[in-house]
Parts: sequence; structure tokens; C-alpha cells
Amino acid sequence: YLFRRIKMFNIAILGCGVVGSGVADILFDKQAELSKRFNQEVKLSKILDIKNMDGTPYAPYLVTEPAEVFDDPSIKLVVVTIGGLDLAADRCFAALRAGKHVVTSNKAVVAAYGRELTKLAYENNVRFLYEASVGGGIPIIRPMNICLSANDIYEIQGILNGTTNYMLTGMYKDKMSFDDILKDAQAKGYAEADPTADVDGFDAARKIAILSSIAYNGFVDFEDVKCIGIRNVIYADHELAATGGFAIKLIAGSKITEKGVRISVEPKLVSKSSMLAAVNSVYNAVLVRGSYTGDSLFYGQGAGKLATASAILGDIIEILEAPERQNLPAFVEKAATIVKDSQEKERFYVRVKAEFKDTESEELKSCINSVFGDNAVYLGYALSDNSTAAFITDYCSESEFNNKCEELANCSYVEAVTYTMRVAE
Ligand code: HSE
Repeated sequence: YLFRRIKMFNIAILGCGVVGSGVADILFDKQAELSKRFNQEVKLSKILDIKNMDGTPYAPYLVTEPAEVFDDPSIKLVVVTIGGLDLAADRCFAALRAGKHVVTSNKAVVAAYGRELTKLAYENNVRFLYEASVGGGIPIIRPMNICLSANDIYEIQGILNGTTNYMLTGMYKDKMSFDDILKDAQAKGYAEADPTADVDGFDAARKIAILSSIAYNGFVDFEDVKCIGIRNVIYADHELAATGGFAIKLIAGSKITEKGVRISVEPKLVSKSSMLAAVNSVYNAVLVRGSYTGDSLFYGQGAGKLATASAILGDIIEILEAPERQNLPAFVEKAATIVKDSQEKERFYVRVKAEFKDTESEELKSCINSVFGDNAVYLGYALSDNSTAAFITDYCSESEFNNKCEELANCSYVEAVTYTMRVAE
């Protein structure tokens, strides 16, 4: 008799929440197909969680002790879909140390420990992949690592947070206040009870730091990302921006400048002719500018159970295809230089509080033009609030802009400059 031993590729999922259960569902669907394709038995073997899962399809796989995963030599790959930072990071480190491949969707872990984990995977001759950590189901990490990597990537502009994109879209469409659209987003399960990570931009900051580290071949620390959330955007801003042909989007962006990488998350005016302006509701998109490709847009579902799980499966398939270690990416050893004060010339949107009188519109306009020059574009008063007006400046540096805003406040028609945003180019 000739015995042919069937190779086993057992997978464990740590954390069976929204994304983890999605990975299990896809594995149930696809394990026969994957086993055939890779000529080995590819299957879900264990799920580590402390929840009671009686009556669910996940119950037969449930284990509660980490050692049951880490000390099981038949488990080749560990999917870490635990939220938060410390426990999830510990589990990634432990799995790699045990010589298992790790795939995670946890961007907090990747942003904070991506370098160490990538290095540890290399040292242990396994792989650490995280396609699902940015843009949910949108392929973006692998395209940047492989497909676009002949390019010098010089700029990324992303809508990387579905919750805030839903809120900005809804605020404009339904003329809502920030508080009301936040409650709506919470009721629909997009925003969490503590909405800080989304609305203040920290979630998007981690994602743009991860993408930028890959794109610019130097580690970008998410704590260096200048972060302005959407709390101070009001309906009148959308209305006035639309008058000028712009939409307002929370843009997680980075670009190469002469002095280094400029990186921020902030609400910006995006021209309606730009592809990003058409990205609405919970959708995400990433615009990548490369030396050979020009602009490429990646668009799709940035969150959600099966879309995010799909990206995890992509990583699992990549590991089945190429389980041997790869070259270390440049960002593991080298940090990027981050530029904090830019002297780059940009355009700004300026919202002012001004007392409305019938005749005043022309006077306010001439006051704006006298301070900001003839190319400043006056957008008028908001129909929704007749003490709020806005304009868009000509190109100027941030320091010129701040000086001119002070000068404008001296104009008798202007009570105060109440909000400003950059215009995305
Ligand atoms: N809170 C995130 C978002 C989830 O709204 O986009 C996906 O990372």
C-alpha cells in the first residue's frame, strides 16, 4: 500500500465578533474549494473566545484557553479579529512566536506594532498580513505593496472612515446637526457609544499611517498625524461649499514634500469633479497618485462583516500561495521624516459670522477681496443661517492665511472667523 498523507492547514480565529464570525462563515463556504485549490486540507479548526456560543455554528470550534491554539502544532495560521489594542497585540506576538502565520484586521495593532510584528514574523519564518486593517474589503495594502510598487507614490488621499463619511453625507442630505446625525449613526450601529475614534479622526489616522508607511518606504507613526475631526462642521458649511462646487469630506491624506511627508486627517473641501466627491455614505475610497500610473482610485465597502472578512481570506490565500517569508519592507528599519509646518501654498475655506443686512453682501465681499485679494471667491450667506457667510481664498501659505484672517476680523462687517478648512487639490 502507498499511503499519501494529506497535508493539513488548520486555521484558528481569535475573537469571534462581527469580523471573526464573518471569516468563519466564509471558511465554511470555501473550505472544500480552497482545499482542492491548494491540494491540502484547509479548514477552520478552533475559535478562541470567552463568549457563550451555544446554538451557533461556531460552538463546535470554541476553545477558551489560548494554549489550545498556541500549543497546537496542527494550527498553521491564526486570524486575530480581537478589537482594542493590548490583548490583540499580545495574541499576535504569541502566535508568531509559536511559529504560526498571523492575519489581522486590527488597525490599532498594525499602526502601533506593525514593524515589530513584521520583523518577528520574518525571524520566525512565517508571515504577518493585514489587508483588512485599512479600507475593509477594498484591496489596497497588497496593490500598494506589489502592483503599484514600481511607482514613486507621491500622494494618497483617502476617505477611510465609513462612520464619518455617513455622517457628513447625511448632515448635508437631511440638513442635520452634528448631534442628530451622530445619534442616527449610533442607532444604525455605525458609530460606537464612544464615537471619539471615528469622529475625531483617530481611526482614519491609523489607517493613513499604515498606508503611508508602505507607500513612502519609511515608518509613519500614527501619533504624528495631525488630526482634526468633524465635530465643528455644520450644515451651512455643506450648503456654502456646494455653492462653490465642492463637497466636504474627512480626508486622510499624505504627500511627499521637499522636506518630508506631510500627513493629516481633516475635513476638506473636495471639488465635485473629483472622484472622491462621489464617495457617499459608509463607502470608503483611496486615491493613490503614482509616478507612472497617475491617479488610481480604490473604492468599496470600508467596513462590515463579510467585506472585511473577504480581505482576511485574501491574506489567507496569499499565505497558502506563498507561505515562505518575504523580504522585509523598508518601513521596518527606516522611519519617514514628518513635516509639521508646511509653507506650501493652499486654498482655504473660511466661514465667518457677519451681521446680515440687505445691502451688506456686496460690502462683505469687497472687504474679503481687499484682504484676501481679487481671486478670493465669495460664496455668500447661508440660506439656512443668515449670519453665516463663507469664501474660498486664493493660494496662500498657512502663516499668510492666519495673518489675513486676523486682518479680516478688523473689518466692521465681520464679527468673527468661525471655522476654516483646507481645499483638497
Ligand atoms: N469605525 C470604522 C469606520 C470601522 O467607521 O470606518 C472600520 O474600520
